[in-house]
Amino acid sequence: MTVEHRSERRLVTCLFLDVVGSTDMTVSLGPERMKRQLDRAFADLKEILHGHGGTIEKYIGDAIFVIFGAPAAHTDDPERALRAAIACAGWAAQNRSAGGAVDVRVGVETGEALIDLDAVDLRQQMAVGTVVNLAARLQSQADAGEILVGPTCREATADVAEYARERVAELKGIGAVSIAALVGLGPHLRHRPLRFVGRDGELGRLTAAFDRVRSGRATLALVSGPPGQGKSRLIEELLGTLPPDVRVLSARCRPGTESGAFTPLRQLVMADVGDGTLHGLATRIAQLLPDGATHEGVLEIIAHSAGLTTSERILALPALQRRDAFQDAWRSYVGAIAREQPVVVWVEDLHWAEPQLVGILDRLTARSESCVLVVATARPEFLGNASLRPGEDLVHLELGPLAPEDALELARSASALAERTIERAEGNPLFIVELARARPTGGELPMTVQAAIAARIDELPQSDRQLIQHAAVVGETFGVRDAALLSDRDPAEAAGTLARLAHGRYLSPVDGQYRFHHALVRDVAYGRVPIAERMRLHARYAREGVDRDDTEALAHHWWEALGPADATWVWEGAADLAGMRREALEAHLAAGKRRADRLSHERALELYRRALSFASGPADTGRIEEGIGWAYARNAQGDESWEHRLKAIDAYRSAGIDPPAALYADLLAVPVMNFGYFLKGPTGESVGALLAEGERVARASGDETALMRLTAENAVFTGDAQLAAEALRMADATPDQRMLGEVYRPIAIAQFFAGRLTDAEATFRRVDTVSAQGGFVNVGEILLWRALTLIAAGDLAQAETTADELDAFAATSTPHTRGHALGVWGLILAAKGDWVAALESARAVEHLVTGNPALPFCLIPASATAAGAAADRLAGREAPQNVEALVERMQPWQPTQRAGILVIPRAMSNRPAFGPELDAAYGAKLWWDRNVVDPFAFNRAIALVIAGRHAEASERIVEIDRFSNSGSRVAGALTAAMREELAATSRAMAGHTALHELGYHGYSDLLRFRPN
Ligand SMILES: Nc1ncnc2c1ncn2[C@@H]1O[C@H](COP(=O)(O)OP(=O)(O)OP(=O)(O)O)[C@@H](O)[C@H]1O
Ligand SMILES: [Mg+2]
Repeated sequence: MTVEHRSERRLVTCLFLDVVGSTDMTVSLGPERMKRQLDRAFADLKEILHGHGGTIEKYIGDAIFVIFGAPAAHTDDPERALRAAIACAGWAAQNRSAGGAVDVRVGVETGEALIDLDAVDLRQQMAVGTVVNLAARLQSQADAGEILVGPTCREATADVAEYARERVAELKGIGAVSIAALVGLGPHLRHRPLRFVGRDGELGRLTAAFDRVRSGRATLALVSGPPGQGKSRLIEELLGTLPPDVRVLSARCRPGTESGAFTPLRQLVMADVGDGTLHGLATRIAQLLPDGATHEGVLEIIAHSAGLTTSERILALPALQRRDAFQDAWRSYVGAIAREQPVVVWVEDLHWAEPQLVGILDRLTARSESCVLVVATARPEFLGNASLRPGEDLVHLELGPLAPEDALELARSASALAERTIERAEGNPLFIVELARARPTGGELPMTVQAAIAARIDELPQSDRQLIQHAAVVGETFGVRDAALLSDRDPAEAAGTLARLAHGRYLSPVDGQYRFHHALVRDVAYGRVPIAERMRLHARYAREGVDRDDTEALAHHWWEALGPADATWVWEGAADLAGMRREALEAHLAAGKRRADRLSHERALELYRRALSFASGPADTGRIEEGIGWAYARNAQGDESWEHRLKAIDAYRSAGIDPPAALYADLLAVPVMNFGYFLKGPTGESVGALLAEGERVARASGDETALMRLTAENAVFTGDAQLAAEALRMADATPDQRMLGEVYRPIAIAQFFAGRLTDAEATFRRVDTVSAQGGFVNVGEILLWRALTLIAAGDLAQAETTADELDAFAATSTPHTRGHALGVWGLILAAKGDWVAALESARAVEHLVTGNPALPFCLIPASATAAGAAADRLAGREAPQNVEALVERMQPWQPTQRAGILVIPRAMSNRPAFGPELDAAYGAKLWWDRNVVDPFAFNRAIALVIAGRHAEASERIVEIDRFSNSGSRVAGALTAAMREELAATSRAMAGHTALHELGYHGYSDLLRFRPN
């Protein structure tokens, strides 16, 4: 039977130490004596390793395997491992010089390993990971007395350790690894502290506390904040500002598990007395407290509390009395020093202090007139400590994050390429500096940051730790219910734990939820959860935790549960894998659609790509390809949308099912109504064939809505007025209002192309009704075609209102739609004769197009470019060289359209303007070859007048006049002006009155223009 052990992924440093007895000595000593020596060596080395904070995992033959960083992490585990290694090597050297026969070979490396928390207690194998094997191999490569260190550990200790030249070694089963022998350890030298930034207010408060002390009120200043927030540094800065006569007594507290270091009280004594011997202390106290009786008592207690002596008398005192005795003695001792000079007692990391020490510090400053300032730092979890009595002698500073400008300054002074990193640090100076200095590889956290956070997480009891690690699966913010669900707890119990964690500043309450106090804490907590468990938790959260409407969160958690490569082994044999994959697929499809509709194109495609990995057959592929096609169409990328929608149709067919008829309607809507979305474009035949196929499928499946849409699209495609009428009849009869906007849109466009502007206007009003009733309307497209209709009809005022709306819509839409807005303005401004503004529109188009080199544009913005060229000619300038190229960039596959767009500027520059392509632009069968913004061929007529081709111009007049009664007031005004121009002997005689009355001054300007 296998037992599920509790495991965590952790950053650990592994040390392998091999105890070797020399062969010579074994021979000369004989096996019994050699064995004795080895046994003793093991016992001594074990003690040394333990003393440095290592956990002995196991003995393998003559080797000892030690882990630093589990079960509890320290901020400096790699350094500890190296110190331990040096101590062991030192022991061996000493042993040999005393005639011993033992030496050690050591390998050390840092890395991530899976740690079995239960095994720690059970003394079974507890660590699994490449780092373990690597450290073992390093050990086997080491010479006697040598400490070989792997690359990750070297990087983590670069500040403190010195190494011999590195070399690359081929390690069995691992490959090439850079290794180097440890030479020695020094103090932190490499990085001098960076210039102090910000914290003016905090420093001011501490200075004020010192002033208060000077005025005769002892004070305790407590600085609290999470690791790395700058507590210690703040106090260092304070001390730097104090006058030189101040006496500083400092001490650090260490976690209970650490042996070896002197206790904080001993450190304080040593800070005062120097050598820290009993004799030194006795002399000092005799000098400080001349009164014999007092000094005897104080000395006894101070010496006892500092561990210099053991007093049976004190041990025999009842606890409370002993406490008071300690506090009084320290108050007398420090108070006496303060009579000589002001004293600052600086105690670091009070969260690790024994209650006894906290009590003493409190008593040193409570209602005392001594010149004593106690400054102490502590992590937030300390704040609930009852031994500190609130009062006016206690100043508490809670250090928050650095202000953004200070954070930036700090990051810059740490590294030249710092900007990108500081956001993640959220104002924590340690994280800012470490992230700024980290090599810019991947998203990995620098080890120093990881270690700082890991050590803090390890201060939590195991069950609290499990709770936040599991809650981290949700993300940075989570609710009580989430945490309860993922850690299998009763919600009331989870709520209690979370409140406690918030108190310890691991979490912050926000809007009824909890957020990790620092985003990096979330990352480290999450990184601790072993992969398989992580994936199961994501799946569980997707099933039971996520709000069903939050499709993107759902997709995220399903992806994390099933997407990574590890899914293959994690879910092997899982009964419900198929069901989960189905749910994942649905979530991705829904989320992709939502993203595409919000024009978050890249993200939508990413979701669909992920969805493909959950597809279990061509029918699924069909739905996904359909979604991809939709996303591309929303982004105005016609070629890609065409390709993927055809793929979708194929996929459905190969699954043996008819594709949905709506897919055909969507597919064909692009070439029929947005052919400008294409850079290459489909052939007319393929569009025609697919329209027919779509109609067949729609009939067969009884999909009336799709049939209506396809009929209307066909009306645009063929220019067949009867088809438009039929589509309208179907639309009037349908009970399904939702997609009517997509039926009316092609109908209105077909009416516009046919020059039936009054009908088109009526259709746009129907769209308004659909919109008012909540049906789907492609707003940007409707506004575009409505504006074009109004321009052609002669209503510039309404056209401007509509163009304004289009502008507002385009501001948050795709570049293609912004091109539409600019193009419509170009057309309006040219009609009005506001040539200065028309030039600006043309420049804006150029800017937009060059700024989006990969995207297709269309003839609408190209029309603004042509208007700009005309403006230049009217002002007597040559049109810019790149006009033709720009228009071709926007219209790469329709030379006929280009001919229609450019005919006026070409005529104005005396360039060839009237060829067969122009005829096609106004007479082509396939309407997408035509200059569709100009249904009455005004451009050609005006250009003929400019070029002085009177006979052809007269023919045009007749043709345009036919449109005067189909809703275009400007048609009649234009032909009247043309007649004047053709009849005029001198230009001054032509008044163009009707054009001016309508406000089409620009058409008049153009008609008057003659090249040369
Ligand atoms: N205001 C500051 N300006 C410049 N550097 C700072 C500032 N505050 C902190 N630092 C630097 O950030 C790092 C972390 O600061 P510090 O050691 O004081 O944090 P701490 O709060 O004492 O952390 P811990 O709880 O781990 O002891 C140090 O290298 C320190 O020099
Ligand atoms: Mg500190």
